[in-house]
Amino acid sequence: MKVLLICLILIAINANVNAEYKSYLNYKLYKVNPKNQDDVNTLKEIQNNGIGEFWNEYFRPEDDVRIMVEPSWENIFLERLKEAKLEVKLIFNNLQEIIYKQKAPRQAGTVRSANSFFSLDWDDYYDLEQINHWLDELAEAYPNIVTTVVMGKSVEDRDIKGIKIDYHPERTDKKIGFLEGTLHAREWISTATITWIVKEFLTSSDPDVRAFAENLEWHIFPIVNPDGYVYTFTGNRMWRKNRSKTNFTSCGANVNDDMSNGVDLNRNFDFVWMTVGASNDPCSNLFAGPSPASEPETQAISQYVLELSDRGEIIYYIAFHSYTQMFVIPFSHVASNQMLAADNYANMFEIAVRSAEKLSQRFGTSYSVGIAANVLYPMSGTSFDWVKNYTNTRISYLIELRDMGEFGFLLPASQIIPNNLEVMDGLIEMDKTTKLLGYYTTADASKIFYSLSVVIFGLMAILVV
Ligand SMILES: *[C@@H]1O[C@H](CO)[C@@H](O)[C@H](O)[C@H]1NC(C)=O
Ligand SMILES: *[C@@H]1O[C@H](CO)[C@@H](O)[C@H](O)[C@H]1NC(C)=O
Ligand SMILES: *[C@@H]1O[C@H](CO)[C@@H](O)[C@H](O)[C@H]1NC(C)=O
Ligand SMILES: [Zn+2]
Repeated sequence: MKVLLICLILIAINANVNAEYKSYLNYKLYKVNPKNQDDVNTLKEIQNNGIGEFWNEYFRPEDDVRIMVEPSWENIFLERLKEAKLEVKLIFNNLQEIIYKQKAPRQAGTVRSANSFFSLDWDDYYDLEQINHWLDELAEAYPNIVTTVVMGKSVEDRDIKGIKIDYHPERTDKKIGFLEGTLHAREWISTATITWIVKEFLTSSDPDVRAFAENLEWHIFPIVNPDGYVYTFTGNRMWRKNRSKTNFTSCGANVNDDMSNGVDLNRNFDFVWMTVGASNDPCSNLFAGPSPASEPETQAISQYVLELSDRGEIIYYIAFHSYTQMFVIPFSHVASNQMLAADNYANMFEIAVRSAEKLSQRFGTSYSVGIAANVLYPMSGTSFDWVKNYTNTRISYLIELRDMGEFGFLLPASQIIPNNLEVMDGLIEMDKTTKLLGYYTTADASKIFYSLSVVIFGLMAILVV
């Protein structure tokens, strides 16, 4: 009887999930490269009319733009481009297949990769429950080093859960590191990167990894937007925002109707909020929320990091996103000619350049480095800028992981491990350079000295080349 009941419940749950999960059957993904401002304007008009969902929120001439088009809009979309003489390339002719492949059940008899660690591996993407369970396992297995922490609750009352890794609880002069994962729900590789870093911290015997892991008190949150993350597994794979309902409104028949049911958490932080690269339209993927830090997730992160900042010096705040392969340096609202706005911009730039160079050596993956105005588009209300402005954090980055748009948010699981290996290379180089620049010592003079020597070294390198 019990068994039967459980079966019935399971069937009910399954049926429910299947019924609700948005299908992208025969949705196409197109690539367009606007050559000039006219082309950009044509694309914006298409975007505003809801004829396609754009993976690039902003774009300029020469940017590759990826646009998801549902079957009923396909003819109109193609015709409009033809009229405007814009070339278009079909990337995928059935997105549902790519989504399915990204999360395909492991084939019967497949062996788990040698990289598994407790209940997790990096051959697949895992959902919130599985990740949180893994964090519990680690806390149990490493009671003196790992503790689970809950920084707050999401709108739907889920824990925003992470771990603290501290090899030296006795230390009083704390140096702190913070890793932020999956603020944007659909960027799954962000979570898979962070869990790998955790595994390396706990298992690697490489002296540089050991130093990176043990010199800092780490606060690591693989999924800071749990509601959104869950929703990408159960409701809509392409969800980006949180699940706020405060600004619910119908976004029109062309757009998924519940689009307004969410806030872009990476536009919601209370620093130059809603000044640039953000939207006050609840139907936009860049909706900044009704007011600065309106969202509980935003408040939880801000509060948590402020408390850390009181307890010690935050050396790193790293927010992992995807895609487009770049290190973004604060501040994101400033124009190119104001890139020096952050006090230690030069150091953050130097560290990121060396990190990106090292990262590229393993598989040739190329990352760009710069402030948002140079590598992405200006934006406001982001977490990593807020952290840099409001806390004592020395090095704050937003890292956009793989790829360059071949799969975008739907990066195949087979790329998780290569991505993780190269990112770890980059982070280790980051830490070595940070150390070289004197950030682990308190004397500011040494920072300036090393900074100068790095600049001179850089100039020499340019001359030599
Ligand atoms: C999303 O944002 C709204 C504010 O508009 C907030 O009330 C809600 O709790 C957030 N959702 C989640 C899942 O945290
Ligand atoms: C969102 O909701 C809040 C609270 O109801 C309201 O004050 C605000 O004007 C709304 N914003 C938009 C853009 O609809
Ligand atoms: C924070 O931002 C304000 C306003 O842009 C600026 O005046 C201030 O210098 C910034 N502080 C830091 C530490 O970045
Ligand atoms: Zn993102």
